[in-house]
Amino acid sequence: MEIKNITVIHGPNLNLLGQREPDHYGTLTLDDINSTLTKEASILNLALEVYQSNGESEIVDKIQSLKSDFIIINPAAYTHSSVAIRDALAAMGIPFIEVHISNVFAREDFRKQSFFSDIAVGVISGLGTEGYCAALNYAAKLNK
Ligand code: DQA
Repeated sequence: MEIKNITVIHGPNLNLLGQREPDHYGTLTLDDINSTLTKEASILNLALEVYQSNGESEIVDKIQSLKSDFIIINPAAYTHSSVAIRDALAAMGIPFIEVHISNVFAREDFRKQSFFSDIAVGVISGLGTEGYCAALNYAAKLNK
């Protein structure tokens, strides 16, 4: 598998990172995370696009439009509810890693259910915002 272009998709309410429930999600903002990922991607020689939306249909449309080789997605609350986003990922067939900042398995029961995990390359949950970097580094290693 040759990975050149990666898209990072952030789901609903992740635009509020930095102020939103810092005990679960830390204090970095979405811009902080995206700029770290962009720097890391350029070191790894990968083209990186970042996208955030609060809307399910917008995320479906975005996935349908992608020409990327790999996706890193935090579907946020849609993890636990969205057949539509799952179906879009399955339809496009672009490999993806599911990332969660918090450990969803250590929280409410409804967060333990994901519509994505069984079709993901892998799932990272509970490593904080480092989880995105871990996913990016994993994707880069697929080229070696
Ligand atoms: C989250 C976990 C979800 O349960 C939650 O709805 C989010 C963020 C995470 O990154 O830990 O919005 O995906």
